[in-house]
Amino acid sequence: MDKEKKDNEQKNDEKENLISRRYFLESIGAGAIGVTVLGAAVLSAEYLSPNVVKEPPMKFKVGPPEDYSPGSVTKNIEQKVYIVRAKEGYFYALSAVCTHLGCITNWKSEQDIIACPCHGSKFNIDGQKIAGPAPRPLQRFAMSLDDHGQLVVDKSAIVGSDVVLKV
Ligand code: FES
Repeated sequence: MDKEKKDNEQKNDEKENLISRRYFLESIGAGAIGVTVLGAAVLSAEYLSPNVVKEPPMKFKVGPPEDYSPGSVTKNIEQKVYIVRAKEGYFYALSAVCTHLGCITNWKSEQDIIACPCHGSKFNIDGQKIAGPAPRPLQRFAMSLDDHGQLVVDKSAIVGSDVVLKV
């Protein structure tokens, strides 16, 4: 009688072990399926969403003239543009993109030059090349003053090297 009771208890234990092992394996299987479905959904969403690069607007405000002191060069990093206010007070906007292979140049105030870190091109404050492999001067963009007294740069309008904005 006692042996029969022990056998029954052992069978019950084995049955419980089997159930918990089955539950464990089913859980892992369900988890794997869930991860697979979620991964497929994310990849599908990425594939179906438009591959658009957001560029900043070509025409933008850069503040009032008073923000710029005469004889200053101010780099607008987001737009990759220098706002130059000459000692005489007039303005012009130069592209900060090197005309060699498109690296972003830097203003070197101690030397009064714009220098490209990639292959050594140098430009004077008017954007004219003075050294290096750059084939052309830096582009100059149209500037204007809007109705609210704000300076506006239009990168879609490339102007000659003698065009300035007098305010
Ligand atoms: S990209 Fe400026 S010198 Fe080459």
